Amino acid sequence: MPFFLIAIDGPAASGKSSVSRRLAARLNCACVNSGSLYRAATWGVLQAGVDPADPEAVATAVSALRLDSETVDGSLQIRVNGLDPEAYLRDPAVAASVSKVSSVPAVREILTGILRSLGSSSSLIMEGRDIGTVVFPATPFKFYIDASESVRLQRRHAQGEADSLVSRDRQDSTRRTAPLRIAEDAKVIDSTHLGLDEVVSQVVDHLRHQGLSVPE
Ligand code: DC
Repeated sequence: MPFFLIAIDGPAASGKSSVSRRLAARLNCACVNSGSLYRAATWGVLQAGVDPADPEAVATAVSALRLDSETVDGSLQIRVNGLDPEAYLRDPAVAASVSKVSSVPAVREILTGILRSLGSSSSLIMEGRDIGTVVFPATPFKFYIDASESVRLQRRHAQGEADSLVSRDRQDSTRRTAPLRIAEDAKVIDSTHLGLDEVVSQVVDHLRHQGLSVPE
């Protein structure tokens, strides 16, 4: 199969991660959750005792972090100064600060560079907020997965996770650098009334229509 990059963007708890993982299994490629990298950087900022609301201090702190990322067994593995942040990525303190940290342009520049390098050598599916608009704007394979706010809140609640997703979405959509928005050439799928299988099948139909061969 030729090299491909699939961008899946959308607001928090819209179902992007589940769709991306299913699709990666079908296409036998890695799946990169870019939000994990933003969360890992946020964890590093908090560990350094830096105020996430101070953009200059955040920029300095993130520049000083050693962020190593690679795909291992099909998913993203991150190290922050040599430590595995995985167990802390969904902590309420990280969730509460990640949108502030991600709004700092210097942070986005560093993380966008890391995300692009992950897609430079092998095919992958990457999900996030600005993958189709900023990270891989040239890829023809772009999706924007949406769902109503109440359904997204229900889904997060069912995952048992405390998440200020309404305020995160507001901050992620209104920031000046790389805000969450629909790429002009993205296929929009509203998953409010759809199950996971239906969303995956709409994505697969569209990819096939675009000429990408997707195994059953
Ligand atoms: O996908 P997630 O909810 O775990 O992402 C956490 C935060 O990371 C999100 O609220 C904003 C930020 N993010 C971003 O700014 N750009 C991305 N491509 C992915 C995530």
